[in-house]
Amino acid sequence: MHKNGLQVAIDGPASAGKSTVAKLVAKQFNYIYCDTGAMYRAVTLKAIQQGISLDNEPEIAKIVKESKITFTPDETGQKVFIDHHDVSEAIRSEEVTNSVSAVAAIAAVRKQLSAQQQAIAKDGGIVMDGRDIGTAVLPNAEVKIFLVASVEERAKRRYKENIQKGINTPLDELQLEIEARDYKDSHRKISPLTKATDATEIDTTALSIDQVVSEIAKVINSKLNFN
Ligand code: DC
Repeated sequence: MHKNGLQVAIDGPASAGKSTVAKLVAKQFNYIYCDTGAMYRAVTLKAIQQGISLDNEPEIAKIVKESKITFTPDETGQKVFIDHHDVSEAIRSEEVTNSVSAVAAIAAVRKQLSAQQQAIAKDGGIVMDGRDIGTAVLPNAEVKIFLVASVEERAKRRYKENIQKGINTPLDELQLEIEARDYKDSHRKISPLTKATDATEIDTTALSIDQVVSEIAKVINSKLNFN
């Protein structure tokens, strides 16, 4: 156990429900929530805004070095800032979503962001979601969860979220985008998306959000009672 509690790592493919349940789990245990995907997205947004090509690895690595990414809690979970600009909504655009895997594949970007994530998590009392948290960022996390769901279900969830945001991408297009992102995230050379051998896998396809949160809470409580 760390100073402020356990380290809880939640990994899994795009739109498997990680951030929704991670926020609720953090609230239940009064832990900090950290969305590591938001960090990769913030870097991607800044690169797009600066007109930097996504294959210009040295320039993108320089962005990470020269930028400050911060989070502040709010009623919806948290707000994300880069260089003190609130980018919480801008990082969820389709353009960023479809470009972020390229940025996340750059070694120098991963190295710097992983070090920042380790610093955020060092005292525990944290729920961190991403792709490589249990395998690379926090390999000693006391709780590791791997969330999966069918690609059809994940596309449906993205579709519903998009409609609420006024985005009208057809369902079959979203499914293709998710499949493309899964492929890139799982086949990149550094820290690809894989399940840690000691992670608990939860298939969320047929589960409600509350059921997933309660499954994760069970795993956390069993560790807390054990420590
Ligand atoms: O969870 P998300 O969709 O917001 O993540 C955005 C992208 O960032 C995702 O396509 C893969 C990448 N990512 C990563 O490589 N490692 C992480 N720990 C988190 C996200």
